Amino acid sequence: MNNYLIREMQESDIPQAIKIWVEQNKLYCSDNMAFPGYWRDNTNGIAGYLNRRVQSGTAVVIELDNRVIGYQGYEEFPFNGEKSAFCPVVLHAVVEEYKEEAYTLLYKYVSQRWVLKNILNHMWIINFNDLKLRNILYDLGFGSYLIDAFACTAGHTLHCNESYVVKRAGEKDKGDLYDLIEESREYYSSAPLFLRRDQYSMEEVESFIKGGNLFIAWDKEMAIGFINVSVSQDKNIIEMWTENCGLIDEIGAYIKPQYRGKGIGKELLKNVFDFCKSNSIQSIHVDYETANIFANKFWKKYFRPMLLSVRRTINKNIND
Ligand SMILES: CC(C)(COP(=O)(O)OP(=O)(O)OC[C@H]1O[C@@H](n2cnc3c(N)ncnc32)[C@H](O)[C@@H]1OP(=O)(O)O)[C@@H](O)C(=O)NCCC(=O)NCCS
Repeated sequence: MNNYLIREMQESDIPQAIKIWVEQNKLYCSDNMAFPGYWRDNTNGIAGYLNRRVQSGTAVVIELDNRVIGYQGYEEFPFNGEKSAFCPVVLHAVVEEYKEEAYTLLYKYVSQRWVLKNILNHMWIINFNDLKLRNILYDLGFGSYLIDAFACTAGHTLHCNESYVVKRAGEKDKGDLYDLIEESREYYSSAPLFLRRDQYSMEEVESFIKGGNLFIAWDKEMAIGFINVSVSQDKNIIEMWTENCGLIDEIGAYIKPQYRGKGIGKELLKNVFDFCKSNSIQSIHVDYETANIFANKFWKKYFRPMLLSVRRTINKNIND
């Protein structure tokens, strides 16, 4: 048995932590052009984020023979109203060779802290391709929750069903769009997804249309589906996108049930790719719950999963 030690992270540990993270990122993320290499090449943002964890006492390192071989940091926040601990992909890394023991010991250490504070919902984001870490976490009781996927706009040619008309949404479409968004809320809250989404007001629906990149599919006079893409103005260290990235976010994409599987989603997506290409946007990001059985099949056809969020719920009576 190796001689491991876990202790609080110090500011002086940050360069070594980042070095391990960069190696991990190279190993699991460097083969996808759509996934920003920015974070590997510009680590100041990660250093600042880690420093804040050090100041708040929410990061630890694991040492082997006085050498830091891994670290884990976390944030505490209410997720759907439940006290939760969250460990994004930049807040953990372990030298490959010690992966199993080191990650298990790190989680054992931090999870004891969390549970003592009654934090019973535990979430991590890991590299999607890191099957070894995925297995370690699954054995610890985690399960898949969300995927962040990226696509390159270059070289994408989608051959679609052109028997339905797709048009950019305008002011006059707000009523139809409002109804479709409401219908999509019912879809998200139903089995097996059970995802609660807030209701949008008509003003918010209008603001999506004014954003200018919302496309609606029509069967004659009836709106049957939509897709929305926005363009990032800054970086996101959690989802790992950078500026000028296409984001299929907020209301996302939705097709009425009787029109699914007829190539309409693909036709809508083609409009998004065309829009991005003509605006020199090279990469598009989407995220979706793995329990969304339609999304989990559809997006994987055109996007590469890069990050996987996993989640574990501790028995609610543990602190009784
Ligand atoms: C996800 C959704 C937008 C896809 O649109 P769609 O019109 O049904 O998809 P398409 O018919 O264009 O299918 C495109 C491709 O995905 C595949 N696909 C789509 N749904 C699939 C499913 N449930 N199982 C297997 N493959 C599927 C199709 O086979 C097709 O592949 P091909 O290009 O090789 O022919 C639509 O099903 C939907 O609105 N679902 C409910 C809401 C939702 O999940 N939105 C996404 C939120 S993140």
